[in-house]
Amino acid sequence: MIMQTRDVALKRNERRQFLKLAGYGALGWITSGFRPVFGAPAFGQNKKTVLGSDFLPDLDISLAARPDEVAVFPGSPTRVWRYHAIIHKGDKGRVLEIPESYLGPIINVHRGEKIRIRFNNSIPEASIIHWHGLHVPAIMDGHPRHVISQGQSYLYEFEVKNRAGTYWYHPHPHGRTGPQVYRGLAGLFLVSDDEEQAAGLPDGEYDVPLVIQDRTFDLDNQLVYTSGRRMDQMTGFLGDRIMVNGLPDFTLPVSTGAYRLRVLNGSNSRIYKLAWKDGRPLTVVGTDGGLLERPANRRYAFLSPGERLEIWADFSDRPVGYETSLISLPFNTGGMGGGRRGRGMMMGGRTGRNQRLPNGAGFPIFNINVTKPVKNHLTLPDKLSDIESIQQDEAVNFFRPRQFFLTMRHMQWSINGREFQMEEVADDEIVELGSKEIWEFHNTGSGMMHMMNMPHPIHLHGKQFRVLERSGVMHESYVDEGWKDTVLIMPGERIRILVEFDDYPGMFLYHCHNLEHEDMGMMRNYFVRET
Ligand code: C2O
Ligand code: CU
Ligand code: CU
Repeated sequence: MIMQTRDVALKRNERRQFLKLAGYGALGWITSGFRPVFGAPAFGQNKKTVLGSDFLPDLDISLAARPDEVAVFPGSPTRVWRYHAIIHKGDKGRVLEIPESYLGPIINVHRGEKIRIRFNNSIPEASIIHWHGLHVPAIMDGHPRHVISQGQSYLYEFEVKNRAGTYWYHPHPHGRTGPQVYRGLAGLFLVSDDEEQAAGLPDGEYDVPLVIQDRTFDLDNQLVYTSGRRMDQMTGFLGDRIMVNGLPDFTLPVSTGAYRLRVLNGSNSRIYKLAWKDGRPLTVVGTDGGLLERPANRRYAFLSPGERLEIWADFSDRPVGYETSLISLPFNTGGMGGGRRGRGMMMGGRTGRNQRLPNGAGFPIFNINVTKPVKNHLTLPDKLSDIESIQQDEAVNFFRPRQFFLTMRHMQWSINGREFQMEEVADDEIVELGSKEIWEFHNTGSGMMHMMNMPHPIHLHGKQFRVLERSGVMHESYVDEGWKDTVLIMPGERIRILVEFDDYPGMFLYHCHNLEHEDMGMMRNYFVRET
């Protein structure tokens, strides 16, 4: 049985690799001519009932969220929800389906392009798509108040203003983000630009996206989510099976060349402490908001839900037949949701699932097999991109940073003691358009109740930011360099970020990207006010 599973997985990997090799070939693409997908649809609250005639998209697609079945394992297919695309305008190579994966298609765009996406909701509950990391107007950001119900459509039209990088998209309905992402609704949104293309990084088959998620399957191959009990919600969902690009037992066959591995943590609440099994350093070339200025070496690095790391991996000094793996090292979560020792175990251990693979456990993520003696003759560039230097003193609140306390009260995670309210913005959550600010987050937990301490990956919608300062003692385990949109804050830590609200007024979210925390209300609006 196990053998069989491996064979199937390997076959899948070969197919996947073939797809990569074929580049923008015919396999796996979906395309069609223009189809008027909107009869008389309701457009949520963006009130656009006709396609903008003054908006000329470079890429125009329909993206549907719909129930589907995927053969993840031999035997019964797994019932999932999945994004499916149809191209109306743009090269076929722009939208790449991953065969036999529950993940949505990989959308490829170039900075400066205009994108139109017609989201059709065909799942039996309200949803909306958020473009994680993208800098788009508030109405295009997928705020939960813009959810549409089954059968409705929402029109997105925006220009890609971000730097080249590994972004992603996923649902954002309030209270249901965790279960919808878990069922399969997520996909990559890759942005390229001229600077990146000139950086000398591996491309084509040597540029490999890797979405890491954990899932639990029952004996009939169906997905199992949390019990819904408060305690499980407090910890967050932890699956006992590691999936890569929606596939189990993932092996990446490589040649003896240099690779750009784009790793996204698309898990609901699991944090990975990435390292190479063979002990070589992790050579990080990019994070959430694209390439670093220069490569950074780490022995290991945390990757929390929502974060991305781009790794340079060179196998040119390894023989054909060489095998290694990307692993997650054991770590202490500092309290709840862990399980290595004591209290975390007691808390997370209420369900059998968490006990099997607690947050902070060590395990392999995927294997690498060197199969071919082909070199791409690339050497790691010293300089990857231009990143403007941090000008802290330009912050309007330089002497009094905005304060956010991540706390828990009455079995409820909150930010400054507040839970999410759909339309609510507090006075201290209003910022001025055009200003630069320092925000300071304190993960002080719940005071005396140390067992209730948990890591929180904090994410801002609307803008990429810079990490100014981290108070903790584990600095070498983080990659805080470059542009970020999600930052992990361990129990007891305090971090400062610098963010500039240079355009796009309106309401945006900031929240914990542990999706169960987010769903229970560890999320707030901030409002960018025009002056
Ligand atoms: Cu990826 Cu509001 O999140
Ligand atoms: Cu986001
Ligand atoms: Cu959290």
